[in-house]
Amino acid sequence: MKEKIVIITGANSGIGKAAALKFAEGFRVIMACRNMEISPAVQRDIIETTRNTHVDLMELDVSSFDSIRTFCTAFKSKYPRLDILIHNAAYLNHGVKEYKLSTDHIELSFATNTFGPFLMTRLLLDHLKKSPDPRILHACTTNIKSFFDPKRKIEFDNLRGELRGSRPYSTYKMYGDSKMALLMLTFKMAEEFKSMGILVNALQINRVKLSKETINKMHSFWKVFAWVQNLTNPLPLDMADNYYHICTSDEFKSVTGQLINHKREIVKPSITEKGFTQLKNIFGSSSYPSYATNAQNVEQIWRLSTTLTED
Ligand SMILES: NC(=O)c1ccc[n+]([C@@H]2O[C@H](COP(=O)([O-])OP(=O)(O)OC[C@H]3O[C@@H](n4cnc5c(N)ncnc54)[C@H](OP(=O)(O)O)[C@@H]3O)[C@@H](O)[C@H]2O)c1
Repeated sequence: MKEKIVIITGANSGIGKAAALKFAEGFRVIMACRNMEISPAVQRDIIETTRNTHVDLMELDVSSFDSIRTFCTAFKSKYPRLDILIHNAAYLNHGVKEYKLSTDHIELSFATNTFGPFLMTRLLLDHLKKSPDPRILHACTTNIKSFFDPKRKIEFDNLRGELRGSRPYSTYKMYGDSKMALLMLTFKMAEEFKSMGILVNALQINRVKLSKETINKMHSFWKVFAWVQNLTNPLPLDMADNYYHICTSDEFKSVTGQLINHKREIVKPSITEKGFTQLKNIFGSSSYPSYATNAQNVEQIWRLSTTLTED
């Protein structure tokens, strides 16, 4: 197989679908999708548009460790190596007030956005090592800027339903926590995988039009809110171009362990989180909270990810 092989999770809608279309212009694309009712039509559409028959659809529920293991075994028996791994799929259901657990008894945002991608990467490492230019990209979010608040912390004590029902639950907070954890894993993975030549980066996504499938899953007020926001939000195309550029270009050939913003600039850790600088931190897109690089925090999420995903 001469063409590069790319896996994109959640490639059936939004940015993931736009990225699958973009990569299908010249790559072998594996759409790793959960919804096998709507995904085959999306796959057909991409094949027809790009005339690339090497667009594969494989079932994956990234919130389930069993599903990840089945997916990775099937992928490895079918493909000789992996060049690009894009962790795009995510859980955030606007307006949901109920704390949800995954099949592995892990809070659903963390299962989908943090530990699932961690396990998947781990299981695909040997295949990534066979690529001459392996790259991993994590879809992150500007929501992590809420960690500029010095009181904000990841709820490590409530990731397995421990305080379900007794502590107020916010789907936004858990989403932000899980993406902050993913960013910390980006930094640590980049270090760990450096000797293997594997690049690991995260993209700070600001705002993109939501797909109608995503909006349809929302509660009524949030549906209206999302449609209104969509009037001004940009199409997923530019963000998909960012995925493509970061994972294929010479410009990013030796960039690893970085958070990259929507303008493709490297985001730096904040120097001060006070006064005017803090305002610049919050309203700008050029710095991320120092919480993300605190060695103790990084170590804690790394240890937990390793323990939870052990065989
Ligand atoms: N849109 C924005 O403004 C924005 C802003 C910041 C960050 N982001 C990030 O960008 C990425 C893409 O967002 P988007 O706006 O394109 O979202 P989207 O249109 O809602 O797409 C999310 C995709 O993830 C899939 N997915 C969810 N849970 C899954 C699971 N357990 N297993 C497999 N697939 C699963 C969904 O598939 P199903 O059809 O099965 O649900 C869907 O294909 C996400 O990581 C998101 O956090 C987006």
